[in-house]
Amino acid sequence: MLFLLSLAPLFITATECLMLPSNLDTSICPLGQFPCGNLSVCLPQLLHCNGHRDCANGADEENCVDNSGWPKLFDTIQSARGNRVMLEDDIHECELDLAPEQCTCRRRMINCSNQQLHSVPLVSSNVTILDLKENKIRLLSDGGFQKYQKLERLFLQNNKLRSISRLAFSGLFRLKTLFLSHNRITSLKAGVFKDLHSLEWLIMDNNKIAKIVPGSFSGLQSVYFLFLLNNSIRELPKDSICAEMPRLNWLDLEGNKIHVVRSSVFQECITVLSLRKNKIRKIQQGALSQMSKLVDLDLSNNLIAELPPSLFTNLQDLQQLNISFNPLNHIPENQFDLLTHLQSLIIEDVEIPNIHNRMFGNLVNLSHIYFKKFQYCSYAPHVRSCKPNSDGISSFENLLANILLRVFVWVMACVTCFGNLFVICMRSFIVTENCQHTMSIKSLCCADCLMGFYLFCLGAFDIKFQGEYNKHAQIWMESWECKLVGSMAMLSSEVSVMLLTYMTLEKYFCIVFPFSHFRAGRGQTLCTLAAIWGLGFFITVIPFFSYDTFGNFYGRNGVCFPLQSDSTEKPGARGYSISIFLGLNLLAFVTIVFSYSSMFYSIHKTGAKTAERSVLSREVTIAKRFFFIVFTDALCWIPIFLLKAVSLTQADIPGTITSWVVIFILPINSALNPILYTLTTSSFQEKLKQCLQRKRSHAQESGKSFTLVSIHIHTA
Ligand SMILES: *[C@@H]1O[C@H](CO)[C@@H](O)[C@H](O)[C@H]1NC(C)=O
Ligand SMILES: *[C@@H]1O[C@H](CO)[C@@H](O)[C@H](O)[C@H]1NC(C)=O
Ligand SMILES: *[C@@H]1O[C@H](CO)[C@@H](O)[C@H](O)[C@H]1NC(C)=O
Ligand SMILES: *[C@@H]1O[C@H](CO)[C@@H](O)[C@H](O)[C@H]1NC(C)=O
Ligand SMILES: *[C@@H]1O[C@H](CO)[C@@H](O)[C@H](O)[C@H]1NC(C)=O
Ligand SMILES: *[C@@H]1O[C@H](CO)[C@@H](O)[C@H](O)[C@H]1NC(C)=O
Repeated sequence: MLFLLSLAPLFITATECLMLPSNLDTSICPLGQFPCGNLSVCLPQLLHCNGHRDCANGADEENCVDNSGWPKLFDTIQSARGNRVMLEDDIHECELDLAPEQCTCRRRMINCSNQQLHSVPLVSSNVTILDLKENKIRLLSDGGFQKYQKLERLFLQNNKLRSISRLAFSGLFRLKTLFLSHNRITSLKAGVFKDLHSLEWLIMDNNKIAKIVPGSFSGLQSVYFLFLLNNSIRELPKDSICAEMPRLNWLDLEGNKIHVVRSSVFQECITVLSLRKNKIRKIQQGALSQMSKLVDLDLSNNLIAELPPSLFTNLQDLQQLNISFNPLNHIPENQFDLLTHLQSLIIEDVEIPNIHNRMFGNLVNLSHIYFKKFQYCSYAPHVRSCKPNSDGISSFENLLANILLRVFVWVMACVTCFGNLFVICMRSFIVTENCQHTMSIKSLCCADCLMGFYLFCLGAFDIKFQGEYNKHAQIWMESWECKLVGSMAMLSSEVSVMLLTYMTLEKYFCIVFPFSHFRAGRGQTLCTLAAIWGLGFFITVIPFFSYDTFGNFYGRNGVCFPLQSDSTEKPGARGYSISIFLGLNLLAFVTIVFSYSSMFYSIHKTGAKTAERSVLSREVTIAKRFFFIVFTDALCWIPIFLLKAVSLTQADIPGTITSWVVIFILPINSALNPILYTLTTSSFQEKLKQCLQRKRSHAQESGKSFTLVSIHIHTA
């Protein structure tokens, strides 16, 4: 509507009866398809406006912009008026004999904008346009404009007007446009505009009007546009609006404080009504039933939880309806049945659990629809343009929207699965002395292998739903397969993290406290592993216990992994996934980084004492390995921590990022763990053993040298 405000001064009279053109193709195409303009070719819905010419005549890339409702109405008015935008720049000379010197005068227009004026200046009575905006006018004197009988446009926006006396505008019988925006007007007295019989535009946005009394608009017989945006109006008088302004068509009440829409407040005259950004909680039954001429209705950004069942019964002419951003919890299946002329329906950010084909079936002329989720589009197959097309992860056509992801999911699945299976087999055939360590490694491989299975499943379902994912999306995300697959990934990543931490801590105690003789026995290791798996299972299944707290924890997107967070996520689910990813996993990560750092420091310290070449090179090898372990951990986990941390700030994370993280980054650890912990491990173990032995002797030596040094110091 801002756009309208800026256009307002250009063209002015508009009061004809409206003929609304409709350029829609009457379709003879099957459901889910649209016709190529006047060719008798039908194409699937998803090719509409995809940026590529699919029809020979390019008709599929036409009408991409939804201009149903007021934009079209506006164009109609403009063309009906013959586009009479006067270019007054040709003639510059002043035709008035009295004009204040700081103001500019062109023909019969006087422009005093931004001149620090405190009151209305005296000008020639022949003036037709008087621009007084951006001044410091506080008061309009009674009858002050009386002698300017030819005045057609008066600009008073951005002044300091607080109240307008009843006689301020008296005598302005020819005034067509009146701007009073951005003042401090708190109330309108009855009869204040009573002489403005020709007024067509009354623009009073951004004031502080709290109450409108009956009679405020009396006399405004020609008003067509009334803008009351950003005021503080709580309530409108009954039955008075159309009675006082019979030609009113456009009523904009955006950004006020209306909390209830009572019946018989809005009557038949209005064709465009915006109630956006109010505080409406309740709409009385029959509140809109008199508005049979309504073409555009905007109820978005309110607090409406429920729409009365027959709210839209008499709105046969309605072309655009916006009910986005309301906490609607239920939309009856027959709510829209009578809106047969509707062309554009906007239900953004509204969850429709009971969505059904039946809901939109009667809307035969509907060409644009906007939902919260792209999955809903499958319930409105006859609508030519449905948005959104994708949630970033999945698209209309495919579970995985991106072609690279669709390939990589298989690559990652193979690498992860076969790498880990290979290690499990190898470990089973090659018997090592340290069977506890082997047990941990095998366990780790099993966990990582699950991640591979998860990716295989995703790839398989992606192929299964190929080309028509939107038909299956809702069912897929609610299916037990999705939950199973998602919990598999969760189990894998959590067990893997805990096992890595356990193994790191074991190594840490072994190296940093070599004398503690901490050595886990077979039974003890088994117990620990069982405990880790048990805890992993527990973490995974907790969200299944309470649907009320967690909602559909795993099935919130196509990849069934609870990493993405948005406003619809239940607080319980959000808290839980944050405490896992940003609590447990971060703790594990910090532990691993800390342990490896102090292990390295400890080795370095003993190495420094000996200062041998061989020790130095070994130190470099160990450093490299440790660095690599920590580095891959960081590579995998830091993006996830960041993602979760950003989601704490309520910022919306694009689904694209989530899908890349889930398919590409999350499995990195699982794919690399067998390489890091096994394929090079036997030598590592030996080195560690050697190191341990050396360390023991060095530790004794260094103990001796330390006593020597201290004795030396003491004696010196
Ligand atoms: C289809 O419409 C185009 C203009 O939009 C016109 O040039 C063409 O002749 C029409 N074709 C038929 C078969 O009506
Ligand atoms: C008056 O002048 C200002 C700039 O000096 C300009 O922005 C404004 O559009 C003018 N008013 C009219 C009605 O032309
Ligand atoms: C107003 O305009 C008319 C011609 O249109 C002229 O005769 C008259 O003198 C003007 N009056 C003033 C006060 O400028
Ligand atoms: C209404 O007020 C809000 C904030 O006060 C502002 O951001 C918005 O631009 C205003 N709208 C108009 C049309 O002036
Ligand atoms: C519907 O309302 C929402 C919220 O006010 C707004 O962001 C959106 O642009 C509107 N859509 C249309 C097509 O007017
Ligand atoms: C749908 O639009 C077509 C073409 O504009 C019109 O002829 C028809 O009456 C409309 N259908 C309904 C039910 O409004």
